[in-house]
Amino acid sequence: MDYFYRMNALEHLRITFLDHLKNRITENEPAGLYDPVHYILSLGGKRIRPLLTMMSAKMYGAPVNDSLDAAVAVEVFHNFTLLHDDIMDAADLRRGQETVHKKWDLNTGILSGDAMLIMAYRLFEGYNKEQFFQLHKVFSKTALEVCEGQQYDVDFETRDDVTVPEYLNMIKLKTSVLVGCALQMGAIIAGVKEEEQQLIYNYGIHLGLAFQLMDDYLDAFGDPATFGKEVGGDIRENKKTYLYLRSIENEDCATELKEWFALDHEEMNEDQIEEKKEIVKVFFEASGGAAATLDAIKFYTDEALSIIETLSISDDSKNELKKFSLDLMSRVS
Ligand code: IPE
Ligand code: IPE
Ligand code: MG
Ligand code: MG
Ligand code: MG
Repeated sequence: MDYFYRMNALEHLRITFLDHLKNRITENEPAGLYDPVHYILSLGGKRIRPLLTMMSAKMYGAPVNDSLDAAVAVEVFHNFTLLHDDIMDAADLRRGQETVHKKWDLNTGILSGDAMLIMAYRLFEGYNKEQFFQLHKVFSKTALEVCEGQQYDVDFETRDDVTVPEYLNMIKLKTSVLVGCALQMGAIIAGVKEEEQQLIYNYGIHLGLAFQLMDDYLDAFGDPATFGKEVGGDIRENKKTYLYLRSIENEDCATELKEWFALDHEEMNEDQIEEKKEIVKVFFEASGGAAATLDAIKFYTDEALSIIETLSISDDSKNELKKFSLDLMSRVS
């Protein structure tokens, strides 16, 4: 009974969000600019960031309606980062469909992405001066950090001395800070004090770390039928993920793995790339790197769960947030 009640509450938030997204993103002309915006936003996705903004606002006592513009802002911003990330990662598949730069072209991916960034900011215009300032401040800080994380991610492709702490800092920047920001925005809208905002932000940081570690794990070991992205894309691109970094700690695997990760995919044909993916995955498992990654996902999820305990929200809200966190760790896409 309780389970169905929670499912329905979340489903209700999702429907409310999708309705608001449709009503707030209405620009159409020129079609060459806005069609890709509607395309990417309508491809689905888990909508975790806007749901977290709405849940956070609600749990701290604000009317959910007050959080909807910020929720759309964070989802539009997230989708902007995906447009540009897919260009940077040379990815052809997103949410089971062609990526924007593949379906249209590179220039379209760049400009439609830029437009989405600006559309995201405009969604704060309806908030009062104090809220606008606070939302704007955390959003801008976050957006710049995401750029920093993306640059480290790309820099690491061609480095062979990346460390685990460097990797964790990189994923904190490219992924976790936006999850934290989504939650903090809900708290700002509810008018909670700064210390409490920081607590829920910090919950988002740990949830985000677990989330990106899982994304890296699924990138190698996910099911192509459900993952929605190219399985093994990180291996093709020589991404220095946690999986890779923990695998090369095993001396029996390090030399060969490093050799595979020194190859440039632009100098390989599709069969060679497929062979590389298969062999690297065997090394990831045999080295213990895959198991270490699953352990790390559990570690950061547990950290996130323990931070929930410290929040000034009701026990029901804590349970809702815990369930949401755990569900995210058993995701398939
Ligand atoms: C993809 O984010 C980018 C990462 C931070 C891993 P999501 O996995 O939230 O993507 P969608 O929005 O659900 O498609
Ligand atoms: C996600 O990194 C970070 C951002 C999109 C900012 P990934 O490159 O791992 O994301 P996916 O796997 O393409 O969704
Ligand atoms: Mg990518
Ligand atoms: Mg990337
Ligand atoms: Mg990924």
